[in-house]
Amino acid sequence: MKKDFLEEIKDPLALVREGQVVAANEAFRLLFHLEGLPVELRRLFEHYPADYGLFETRGKRLDGSLFEAEAVLLPFQDGQKQLLVRDVSQRRATEKMWLQAERLTAMGKLAGEIAHEINNPLGGILLYANLLREDLPEASPLLLHVDKIIKLATRCRIIAKALLNFGRPEDTLEEWVDLNQVVRDMFSLIEDHRLFKAVTVRWELAETLPFVQGNRSQLEQLTLNLIINAGEALAGQGHLVLRTYYQSREEVVVLEVEDDGPGIPPEIREKIFEPFFTTKKGGKGTGLGLAICHGIVKRHGGTIEVESQPGRTLFRVKLPKIHYE
Ligand SMILES: Nc1ncnc2c1ncn2[C@@H]1O[C@H](COP(=O)(O)OP(=O)(O)O)[C@@H](O)[C@H]1O
Ligand SMILES: [Mg+2]
Repeated sequence: MKKDFLEEIKDPLALVREGQVVAANEAFRLLFHLEGLPVELRRLFEHYPADYGLFETRGKRLDGSLFEAEAVLLPFQDGQKQLLVRDVSQRRATEKMWLQAERLTAMGKLAGEIAHEINNPLGGILLYANLLREDLPEASPLLLHVDKIIKLATRCRIIAKALLNFGRPEDTLEEWVDLNQVVRDMFSLIEDHRLFKAVTVRWELAETLPFVQGNRSQLEQLTLNLIINAGEALAGQGHLVLRTYYQSREEVVVLEVEDDGPGIPPEIREKIFEPFFTTKKGGKGTGLGLAICHGIVKRHGGTIEVESQPGRTLFRVKLPKIHYE
């Protein structure tokens, strides 16, 4: 009778007596990969309460793997307790992704606002430095210093400009954009650069591709940033794959930029979309490329993800296909 009652419940449910699971339904046995009963509660959970109530902990399967668990322990008959468990790993992972995306958006917005505030005084610095430069006699030893000021301020200007691209609410997202054309145009823009001289390109553009709706110049910047990153990772030699296709299940147009460079170490993978995160030394990187890509993709209602291992890195952008009205 007890067994039947347990099996009627679809969620993982067990009966506990004196710290031991003495009966369990199929869902529970599957969740923990249980073979036989009874089994000690402490073999199944990192923590569990002495009392009745809700608890959150990690579940331990018999093979040693862990999952995020939510559980509730309730009174039952004959000195037994009922234990209902749920695997919430998936939900936790989704929550974490959302938090990460929100954080990036907030950082991007802040960076854009700061850039806006900095841009005007920076213009002033450059203006006065240039005036000073004109007024100095040609042989002045101070010219060197003024040139330094101009050079450094110009670099700040470039960074501020890039940052401003984060939040551009005035840009409309109403163009019909052919992503294939964007990829071809952007590659032809940089193919003569020394970075790409010895790089072999494999073109895998879909023969027909639905339009995406958006802002062409933003999508160009997105594509260019990804190609440049791949080129920088390849450091002059290797393979670059430029791929587009339509994925009908999600109704998205997909752009993939793949390289066989060194890859992105797992410990920094969560950081690469943050503004100012760069591994490029000596002022070579601004750390803004991917942050800007993230902002652009988000504004277009799409997603950007990365797969990477040593010898292969793939950035995948999904953008909703146009909806004709
Ligand atoms: N294709 C790639 N292969 C390896 N690492 C990459 C690749 N693309 C980006 N990265 C890593 O992500 C970091 C951030 O990229 P990005 O935001 O474009 O800034 P930047 O290129 O200025 O460093 C890079 O410094 C690099 O460590
Ligand atoms: Mg970059």
